[in-house]
Amino acid sequence: MEQPIQELAKGLSIGIIMDGNGRWAKRRGMPRTAGHKKGAEVFQDITRYCNQLGVESVTFYAFSTENWRRPQDEVGAIMKLFGEYLVKAFDYQKENNRVVFLGDRSVLEPKHQKLMNEIEEKTAANTGMTLNIAVNYGGRPEIVRAARQLAQLVKEGKLEPQDITEEMMSDHMYTRGQKDPDFILRPSGEKRLSNFMLWQAAYSELVEMDVLWPDFTRADLDAAILEFCHRSRRFGGV
Ligand code: IPE
Ligand code: IPE
Ligand code: MG
Repeated sequence: MEQPIQELAKGLSIGIIMDGNGRWAKRRGMPRTAGHKKGAEVFQDITRYCNQLGVESVTFYAFSTENWRRPQDEVGAIMKLFGEYLVKAFDYQKENNRVVFLGDRSVLEPKHQKLMNEIEEKTAANTGMTLNIAVNYGGRPEIVRAARQLAQLVKEGKLEPQDITEEMMSDHMYTRGQKDPDFILRPSGEKRLSNFMLWQAAYSELVEMDVLWPDFTRADLDAAILEFCHRSRRFGGV
């Protein structure tokens, strides 16, 4: 018999590529932004559920470095929603989450940057689930940033190139100190990473599901966790 979902979920690190908002809206004859609005509600519900399950960390891909290519009004609507959820994010304090934003925030609206910094500071000592929100995030820019930081240390004579280790690289990612994702979930049926957690995903299991993100339910997360638990992870061994 299968263990209760809570036992299986406990301590997991999960990455979620929230995808399919646009298609969800299109199928209903609604503007794409309606899909983002519903998707943001699902984000909040799944976060609460992950808390309840005792998940160790969950990373939501909210906006990629490539998403700026979308029409200006869509980008504007996504950023507006993000701002609204940043204000609401203070609820996560009650839920004891440690909130971390992944990505280059320097180009975001100053008022958003200020809120992001405040939320991170205010929740830093929380002992519950780590909630990573990836905004203006790309895996390659993250690796370039780490390389630049280590190169700077070499330039300052504080580090020898041959002493650079994988652990050091990990410590210069936005996710420093965190466990790599056990599995990365992508709803909407797409089978690609789209620049998500490239460094951290080295041995993550990929779980793709046909459901569109705005339709994603707690039962879908259960199903994803079960699928992950049935995978045989070998890490290069036998
Ligand atoms: C994901 O849904 C949300 C973001 C990328 C911000 P999409 O907007 O990519 O939805 P589809 O893939 O067009 O259906
Ligand atoms: C990935 O989804 C980015 C986010 C979910 C934030 P996209 O919809 O942007 O990815 P592609 O364009 O299909 O690869
Ligand atoms: Mg998409």
